Amino acid sequence: MDNQKVLQDVTKEIELASSQEELQIVKVTYLGKKGRITELLKSLKDLSLDEKKSKGAEINLLREKVQALFEVKLKDLKILDINSKLNTEFLDITFPPPEVSAAKVHPISKTFDDVVSIFGSMGYAIAEGPDIETDFFNFSALNIPEDHPAREMQDTFYIADKDEKGKPLVLRTHTSPVQIRTMLNQKPPIKIIAPGRTYRCDSDSTHSPMFHQVEGLFINENANMGDLKGTLIEFCKQFFEVQDLKVRFRPSYFPFTEPSAEMDIAYEIIDNKLQIGKGDKWLEILGCGMVNPVVLENCKLDTSKFQGFAFGMGLDRITMLKHGLTDIRSFFNGNLNWLAKHGFSLGEY
Ligand code: PHE
Repeated sequence: MDNQKVLQDVTKEIELASSQEELQIVKVTYLGKKGRITELLKSLKDLSLDEKKSKGAEINLLREKVQALFEVKLKDLKILDINSKLNTEFLDITFPPPEVSAAKVHPISKTFDDVVSIFGSMGYAIAEGPDIETDFFNFSALNIPEDHPAREMQDTFYIADKDEKGKPLVLRTHTSPVQIRTMLNQKPPIKIIAPGRTYRCDSDSTHSPMFHQVEGLFINENANMGDLKGTLIEFCKQFFEVQDLKVRFRPSYFPFTEPSAEMDIAYEIIDNKLQIGKGDKWLEILGCGMVNPVVLENCKLDTSKFQGFAFGMGLDRITMLKHGLTDIRSFFNGNLNWLAKHGFSLGEY
């Protein structure tokens, strides 16, 4: 009698449910933890064994019937939902399609790929480090102690968070901290490049607060300045695709190299076009030198055994030179029309 009544009630309520949410509520009222059918099953516990068997079977039958009713109704409601969506989300296929242009590779990304493949062919592996650095890796391990005037060579972005020693974290001002991370983690011979983002508080047509560098580090028993020059000249010939390339090395100063130099590439402008590798104008593209023994010692390397060279090159600079672009800011302002013009299609790889 009870069962019949429950079946009647639930059938009516299922019929009335007009959405999946409503149906779910009805389902809980009957089949949920405290639902009417669940309660019926619970009430069996006070009956005799025989009664348990016969009544139990009846209630189970009821439960199966009700479950089947719910399933049928759920299917109907889902179809109703789809139909109403089809009616409201109307698509006018006579409308012209939106303009789609093929994806382009950013000139800086192309430079990254070229740099990795050229140095890769010379046997350099890739090393990485974080953009947010500690004072130790970005400065002090590189022989730039506190209050050293060289700190002012680079306008640093400091971060409010502090490292374990209570010193403010910095956005790395160069890729050189990766030298330290690598020397502390690997044994010589070391031959790595570390391309990545770098940051300085500076902005005009040739400086961007976020820019890119590639660091190079080569440590063994006898690496010398000649190897360094040869490596960089060979890189530039391949990168700029100019065999007869006019370059010069100027003596310079970096706390982490001794001796230090900067490399310039010659260029001239003919008919408004930039020609690389000849002419009498110079553009600085990198800093380099023999790794200062103080730095090797900071990295626990035996200076009576090991020596090496390092360089840090501006990737944005060499990209601008190679493609005749004059404003570094155009790389980073996200202009799709600019990218369509100056980007590379995948076929050009
Ligand atoms: N870290 C230097 C800079 O950003 C470049 C450099 C790297 C110089 C390695 C020498 C050796 O200006």
